[in-house]
Amino acid sequence: MENAPKPLLRALSGEAVWPPPFWLMRQAGRYLPEYRALRAQAGDFIRLCTNPALAAEVTLQPLRRYGMDGAILFSDILMLPWAMGQPLRYAEGEGPLLEPIRDAEGLAKLDPAGAAARLAPIYETVSRVRAGLAQEAPKAALIGFAGSPFTVACYMVEGRGGGEFAHARRMAYADPALFGKLIRLLVDSTTEYLLAQAEAGAEALMLFDSWAGLLSPAQFRRWSIEPSAAIVRNIRKVRPDIPLIGFPRLAGPLLPEYAQRTGVSTVAMDTAMDPRWAATAVPAEVALQGNLDPQAVVAGGAAMEAEARSILAAMRGRPFVFNLGHGIVPPTPPEHVAALARVIRMG
Ligand code: CP3
Repeated sequence: MENAPKPLLRALSGEAVWPPPFWLMRQAGRYLPEYRALRAQAGDFIRLCTNPALAAEVTLQPLRRYGMDGAILFSDILMLPWAMGQPLRYAEGEGPLLEPIRDAEGLAKLDPAGAAARLAPIYETVSRVRAGLAQEAPKAALIGFAGSPFTVACYMVEGRGGGEFAHARRMAYADPALFGKLIRLLVDSTTEYLLAQAEAGAEALMLFDSWAGLLSPAQFRRWSIEPSAAIVRNIRKVRPDIPLIGFPRLAGPLLPEYAQRTGVSTVAMDTAMDPRWAATAVPAEVALQGNLDPQAVVAGGAAMEAEARSILAAMRGRPFVFNLGHGIVPPTPPEHVAALARVIRMG
């Protein structure tokens, strides 16, 4: 493929760039005072996600402070079920609440054909961020994203987070025809959603499978790997070269199989993954991303820096993007992120 000039895109495409490019999962949002000010102004979280001017501004905020190599679109994985007509709200202190889908009647109420129109403001945000990056941070690349079908189905069936998604996992065993129908619907709608983000200007795409680690190995293959592989195949038909990042959180020893069978260009490692093991277990042409513990960034200081350096040492010489092992958390002091950026830039 052509030698993309942006460091993040080079690394995601399999080039060992050093010092490694970096960005942080959930980097736009909750821990930044300027985000909280803007969030208060917008009122509702969904209104913020569907307001292109404000969402583009929030996307760019962390880059102004820390000069990350990547900007991740400010949106949420649950905007897709919302756009298909599933009632959704974000309750203060409780996280997302949806009207749960537990049977064929519930599934039939979804309106996938209507999703594109409701998602239009998000595509508008993507275009605005691309224009903003060209002005403010020309070396940074824009990452679009979606939840994986399994992780999105977890919320759609359960109706909420905060637990172990017992209803969703039970449905996958008890009624695989119904669960499979939901997953297939999500494979198609997620493909369209990601391709539309790429069309609007996203330069790399990430699939968040935050709850993949709740599955047994056989269920992981069926409900995480296979649907993700289908999305990768669909996207590759249209955009053969766009970097694709998969994040099968807590996949453990199934990480190399996930990498190989889905065909993603990069796999993101969660906090529990040993980067020294992943460095050899995952084929060298697949880039790795990760995996500093978000709590280490809350703590900061020498403990954070030592952890960051040991990840860097394990990844040296390999295509790699420095990131966290899960999303940055609200109590993170912004100055600890600045200190982390300095450590990464030293390589
Ligand atoms: O910088 C970024 O990454 C911002 C864009 C982004 C958000 N959510 C914004 C958000 C991204 C990439 C996500 C992904 C997401 N959302 C995942 C996968 C990654 C992960 O963390 O595992 C999941 C599982 C969700 C679902 C979700 N959205 C939950 C569970 C919650 C509530 C808890 C929380 O994290 O705050 C949300 C709300 C949400 N999504 C907020 C933000 C900034 C907080 C909303 C607020 O300001 O009140």
